[in-house]
Amino acid sequence: MSDIVTIAGSPSYPSRSSAVLEIIRERLEARQFTTESIHVRNLPSEALLSGKSDDIRIKEAIQSITDAYVVVVATPVYKAAYTGLLKVFLDLLPQQILAEKIVFPIATGGSQAHLLAIDYALKPVLSALGAQHILNGLYIQDSQLQYTDGFELDPAIEQRLDKTIHALTRHLIHSQNQPAAIAVGK
Ligand SMILES: Cc1cc2nc3c(=O)[nH]c(=O)nc-3n(C[C@H](O)[C@H](O)[C@H](O)COP(=O)(O)O)c2cc1C
Repeated sequence: MSDIVTIAGSPSYPSRSSAVLEIIRERLEARQFTTESIHVRNLPSEALLSGKSDDIRIKEAIQSITDAYVVVVATPVYKAAYTGLLKVFLDLLPQQILAEKIVFPIATGGSQAHLLAIDYALKPVLSALGAQHILNGLYIQDSQLQYTDGFELDPAIEQRLDKTIHALTRHLIHSQNQPAAIAVGK
């Protein structure tokens, strides 16, 4: 069981949206929280496409989400919405799986034109899965996430991400009464 589960909805590798999840996981692990990652692209495609929620790998993914306090979902914007890959996975999840969890939605996109895709596309499906505590989404344009030695975030995004990490940390400490995590910096 992990405190935080990340769900990566990109079919690509390497992937910008998945790299953001990696950054978040590293920072939360530095605060002594446990994390787990679900890369939907690595789940069995036959199970995803034929709606087999009893597939063992799908069941394990569902269990990880069920056990977590925080779920971070990241997707690239595809045709003004989230990816079809993410949708087939979300379709397999039980109805209220996100109730009682803090959910943090993230999208990366090539342009600012689809900045609101998190609000009009992703958030409604997260709500349909029972999510009541959805944090403000983080939209990152490709130009704000540069690759040199590793992925590097634009300072403005860095600042917003930092605030969200602090909010998640506070929530996790409250949920689990983990005072040891407070003192650990970014
Ligand atoms: C099939 C496809 C459709 C896309 N559609 C959009 C779009 O509608 N709006 C947008 O801003 N970017 C769009 N993009 C760009 C990606 O959202 C962007 O490059 C994203 O950061 C890729 O994330 P990833 O590396 O995690 O896959 C599209 C890319 C692909 C491959």
